[in-house]
Parts: sequence; structure tokens; C-alpha cells
Amino acid sequence: VGAVVVAIDGPAGSGKSSVARRVAERLGLPHVDTGALYRAATLAVLRAGADPTDEADCAAVVADTVLERHAGRTLLDGEDVEDEIRGPDVTASVSAVSAHAAVRDALLAAQRGAVAEEGGVVEGRDIGSVVLPDADVKVFLTASVRERARRRAAQLGRDDLEDLEREIVARDTADGGREVAPMQVAEDAWVLDSSELDLDAVVASVVERVVEQV
Ligand code: C5P
Repeated sequence: VGAVVVAIDGPAGSGKSSVARRVAERLGLPHVDTGALYRAATLAVLRAGADPTDEADCAAVVADTVLERHAGRTLLDGEDVEDEIRGPDVTASVSAVSAHAAVRDALLAAQRGAVAEEGGVVEGRDIGSVVLPDADVKVFLTASVRERARRRAAQLGRDDLEDLEREIVARDTADGGREVAPMQVAEDAWVLDSSELDLDAVVASVVERVVEQV
């Protein structure tokens, strides 16, 4: 496919990252993980000792930080922070930092720029609704809370399913309930519930959908 743009939105633990990465490989498109940018912004806020709930403080930190993605890694002022941004401290604060309009505005141009030339498979929460409303294909990937917690447990090597479920629900509630660019199903998005599908099946149906639609 040519410079096609595929938006994949969905809640925490829905499998967006694995699906987006594999779909991008199959279609020969760049993979753009927008959550990584919000996570790196959050790490910068935490390192600066700023308050994640303070919009002006967060915006000041982000304005002063260079966030980049290269070859599947995330760089903060040139330092590879890919592993650190997946840790529990960043995960616990990322919804607060990303709720601020000033933070979202600061990250918008980079997200749009990432697909400007070659297209891409872009994963996030507001890609189909706000960042790239003209995307060629919009998928909203979801799964039951129980299933998402199970997947996270396997990924993180944890066995406290109930804690994971609580964390997932808290992040869903924060990301879906915020005023600015809440996580939502874009009007023209295709909702794909992966609760009973394995990764191969989800990847295959998204690829099929893209090939049919473009
Ligand atoms: O997808 P991931 O779990 O890495 O996203 C981390 C957080 O970044 C989300 O919980 C959400 O608060 C924020 N985010 C966002 N908009 C996006 C992508 C992520 O607000 N497009």
C-alpha cells in the first residue's frame, strides 16, 4: 500500500501496540506509538519534580524537552528511555499529564508530522477523533477488562489480576472521562473486540480491512 494512514485507538491493554506493530510490518508502513510520547513527557515531568496535575508546570517541562522516536525506541533529550517509560511510576502518572490541553497541543505536530510523508499505522486514544480525523482506516480495538488484565499479567509477569483490573479501569476512566480529546470511538471507526481473538487473528482482520478499504 502507498502512503496510507491507519488509526488504531483503544483502551489500556487492548493489544494496540502488538497489533499496530505487526500491521505496520505487514503493510510496509511506519509504526507510530503516540502513547510513548505521552509516557516520555510524563517521565520528563517526574524527573523535573513537577506536579503531574499542574497544567502550566507540565507544559513548561514539555516545552523544554526534546521527545523523539527512532527505530522503535523513545528518546528524551537524546537519552534512550524506552524501558523506563513502561515502568509503574510513569504508568501511574501518564493519564494526569496527558489530560492537559497544553501538553496535548505541544505533542500534536509531532504526531501529524510522523505520517506526513509515508503514512503509517498510528496507535493511541484520540487518533481517529482528533489527531488524524482523515485517516484512511480507523479501528477501535478493545477487549474485556478481565482479558486485558490477563494479557498485562502475562506481559509483566505479575499474578495480581485484581490489582491489574483496578489499574486498567482507573486508566480507562481517566482517559475516557477527561475534557480534552477523551478516548472515544470515532464516528467512522470500526470497533474490533479482541476478547476472544488471538493476535494473529486480529492482525489478519485489520490488514484485510485496510486492503479492502484503500
Ligand atoms: O497506549 P499507552 O498505554 O502507552 O498510553 C499511555 C497513556 O498515554 C494513556 O493512558 C493516555 O493517558 C495517554 N495517551 C493519550 N493519547 C494518545 C495516546 C496515549 O492521552 N493518543
